[in-house]
Amino acid sequence: MERIKQAIEKDRSHYPRNDRLKSTTYRDPVPQNAWGHSQGDTDIDNINYTHSQVITLDEAILKKNRIVAHNKQDAMSMHFDLLRTLVLQKMEEKGWKTLAITSPTPESGKTLLSINLAMSIAQQPNRTAMLVDFDLRRPKIGTYLGLPMEHSLNDYLDGNLSLPQVLINPGMPRLVVLPTKNPIRNSSETLSTKKISDLIKELRSRYESRIIIFDLPPLLATDDSIALLPQIDCTLLVVANGMSTKQEIDDSLHLLPAENLVGTVLNKAEIGANSYYY
Ligand SMILES: Nc1ncnc2c1ncn2[C@@H]1O[C@H](COP(=O)(O)OP(=O)(O)OP(=O)(O)O)[C@@H](O)[C@H]1O
Ligand SMILES: [Mg+2]
Repeated sequence: MERIKQAIEKDRSHYPRNDRLKSTTYRDPVPQNAWGHSQGDTDIDNINYTHSQVITLDEAILKKNRIVAHNKQDAMSMHFDLLRTLVLQKMEEKGWKTLAITSPTPESGKTLLSINLAMSIAQQPNRTAMLVDFDLRRPKIGTYLGLPMEHSLNDYLDGNLSLPQVLINPGMPRLVVLPTKNPIRNSSETLSTKKISDLIKELRSRYESRIIIFDLPPLLATDDSIALLPQIDCTLLVVANGMSTKQEIDDSLHLLPAENLVGTVLNKAEIGANSYYY
């Protein structure tokens, strides 16, 4: 708890304008180009989150769940910073703003990687990141972050709340999370609805300056990811060491258009301290 508080305080001291996060009026972000560089006399931090909940994360929960990218004192955070740089270079080169994270088979570490990558991106002063839980079968982002989830994507899909009302600012400057609380039984059909495609369009247009990361289910376990991928600019494939066969990796690469593949991460590789290889 103390470490994340310190990390957040340190960030705030670097970017004092983030105090506005707790302001009381919501308004859309100021016009910015696709890479977060402001147009006019405003800057990227000039975003208020009134209808969105501001939550203070618990460092003990983050640590227990292997979430480290917010904490520069943790040696693992540098691996996510490296991954961030490689991914952003490619995305910027191609003009991509939306990134899908998937894997051939379950339990590859997609969700943890999505969270850590989003945190690492949000720590760059000229970037903002949004993290969306589109694994509607096994949503975990909220649990891993320890979010109370009074509001979530479920409320938005049920038509009870608007988009700004279900967004959460987890106390980190320039990071917004859209968690899913309850699994949705007909997830593939839900992900194919106009409501979801409208949501993706709204996220892209309303939050123009952001890199939007979508945590998806495994490619080969359901058709959920296949239903969504055409609407997302690019994909990062997470392969856990020893957990997918060569055939499963080949099948996954066959399903992903090569031109939209940002890269492949070998996860859980027990080589020294570094368990992420890009
Ligand atoms: N780099 C890693 N090293 C060791 N364990 C890891 C690593 N990344 C994730 N794990 C562990 O693997 C398990 C699955 O992680 P995670 O939920 O992120 O995977 P996932 O691919 O999102 O799973 P699912 O397919 O169920 O959505 C968790 O217990 C997590 O702590
Ligand atoms: Mg997951």
